[in-house]
Amino acid sequence: MSFDEKKGMYFPSEDIINQSNVKEYEKLYKYSIENREQFWAEQAEHLDWFKKWDKVVDESDKPFYKWFQGGKINIVQNAVDRHLTTANRNKLAIIWEGENGDIRTYSYHALNREISKFANILKSMGVKKGDIVTIYMPQIPEQVFAMLACAKIGAVHSVVYGGFSHEALSERIKDAESRVVITADGGFRRGKIADLKAIVNQAVELSPTVEVVITVKRTGHEVYMENDRDYWYHDLENLPIASPICETEETDANDMLFLLYTSGSTGKPKGMMHNHGGYSVYTATTNRMVFDIKPEDRYWCAADPGWITGHSYLVYSPLINGATIFMYEGAPNHPYPNRWWRMIEKYGINILYTSPTAIRGLMRYGDSWVKRHDLSSLRLLGSVGEPINPEAWKWYYKVVGNEKCPIMDTWWQTETGGFMICPLPVIPLKPGSASKPFFGNEIAVVDDNHNDVKPNEEGTLVIKNIWPGLSAGIYKDRQKFIDTYWKKFEKEGWYHPGDSAKIDEDGYIWVIGRSDDVIKVSGYRLGTAEIESALVSHPMVVEAAAIPLPHKLKGNAIHVFAILKEGATPSRELENELKDHVAKVMGPIAKPEEIIFSDSLPKTRSGKIMRRVLKARAQGLDEGDLSTMEE
Ligand code: PRX
Repeated sequence: MSFDEKKGMYFPSEDIINQSNVKEYEKLYKYSIENREQFWAEQAEHLDWFKKWDKVVDESDKPFYKWFQGGKINIVQNAVDRHLTTANRNKLAIIWEGENGDIRTYSYHALNREISKFANILKSMGVKKGDIVTIYMPQIPEQVFAMLACAKIGAVHSVVYGGFSHEALSERIKDAESRVVITADGGFRRGKIADLKAIVNQAVELSPTVEVVITVKRTGHEVYMENDRDYWYHDLENLPIASPICETEETDANDMLFLLYTSGSTGKPKGMMHNHGGYSVYTATTNRMVFDIKPEDRYWCAADPGWITGHSYLVYSPLINGATIFMYEGAPNHPYPNRWWRMIEKYGINILYTSPTAIRGLMRYGDSWVKRHDLSSLRLLGSVGEPINPEAWKWYYKVVGNEKCPIMDTWWQTETGGFMICPLPVIPLKPGSASKPFFGNEIAVVDDNHNDVKPNEEGTLVIKNIWPGLSAGIYKDRQKFIDTYWKKFEKEGWYHPGDSAKIDEDGYIWVIGRSDDVIKVSGYRLGTAEIESALVSHPMVVEAAAIPLPHKLKGNAIHVFAILKEGATPSRELENELKDHVAKVMGPIAKPEEIIFSDSLPKTRSGKIMRRVLKARAQGLDEGDLSTMEE
């Protein structure tokens, strides 16, 4: 790579261009916009179909678009089965390292056997096509097996991140009406055991639909198992029902593959649905073109499978592309801050995909922890989840990538399935910008009158077209999908992601952050309404307002203004108690940084809390236009 100081841009080397899966952006971009359906049909040809589609996209029920309508495909046929008849069969599909140093590896052949066993076990428990199975696990290979086993038999998985509380888990189990939950006794994190089974036990008490809990043994600590409900995976695995041979179900392109709950502006998390066909095509294409993935690559996406990044770019797309995926169970700094670098060196990882928060977290330990390892296997780096500050970008580029790896800063969402704004290895990079629209996408930044803003002016990010990775909707709530993403630009038919952004004079897009009531903390997505209702569930609090404030490591931190019940006295103890309460109700990621006790909250005359005013106040900035504020 080379740096052009005048332009402030990093240019790819000849090497990068020569080996890249896509050699040029502009021409293919133009083609993809002018021939969108054809472009996607051509990409879909890279996959195995039981039956080809009749129609590339059926738009008869907008905004519930049906991609590859009439097609028959199963993502597992593409991620696993088709590799079994090629040289990939004996290649490693998964390398896994536990935090405690355990190592396990699976070839594609072995992966298929594990998935098939798991699939047969699920069938024996009565799981059928279309049933939703909830998965609540640490980062262990069985988490991947469980997801793929569901998909293989046409069942739907709903993975809940292992850091969520039992209440959050139960809310998701109930919404999905899961009969079967898959978990593990626990996982290792920072040298300690995270007691997942205890959380599942509590959650299941609150979730009447659950009849079966399958538990994988990971930590071996003592856990409570209930008769006729709880089964150890290793017991089931040894029964004749767990045959390693299982037919892959021929699902429709528009059959649901998974549900993934994510936070929005309203209190309840939304179950975003993704289907087998469009999702396979979109994730596989973006992964191949942007991460330049090759079958000989060892690829590490350091996200947890409990989030969309883990679904799309740890599990599904790299397996579809036949690469070797690496998974790590634990904390990046355990036992020392060189843990990641040691593993990259040891396994010869070629591609690393992580979040700005993780990069900033490792950067603070200084360069020497990185420098003592040979990271020359790295060819490409990726970033996701929040804007990356140029300082962290440059450290990632210089110290981790040794000035030879392009950084793919990818902007996308749970709803979009895959990358929407991102560079390609062959285009020049600007630190902090997610660069350009991916092929097929027309992206703009508009003002309140829906006109394009001028270069470098802030506005609302919109996506003007549809794409195969777009979510199929919110589970059991058609109207909410319409209201949340399509109402604001109903006339134009544009998708409204809820972010603000700028576009510079070179057409590079700079995402600024959420413009709605969603807070991104360390890249995790939380709704202000969920945090506020967690606080109000404490007997001392009558009203609360949560806002994000900039944080050096986390990007944003949660600050809460709370009005206490009459008679309650603000104190440091109460502040700590309330913080712990939120962490208990929602999970540790939602723990507020600060609680500010207040007598009133600024509201509009219609009663909406003016978070903008609170944010300005907390930072000592100008409070802006207060004309809509109630007396
Ligand atoms: O605000 C944007 C931010 O993350 C939001 C989506 O969150 P989630 O659905 O949890 O998905 C995260 C992983 C895809 C977006 O609305 N975001 C994501 N990637 C970036 C980003 N903000 C800036 N730059 C990014 N690369």
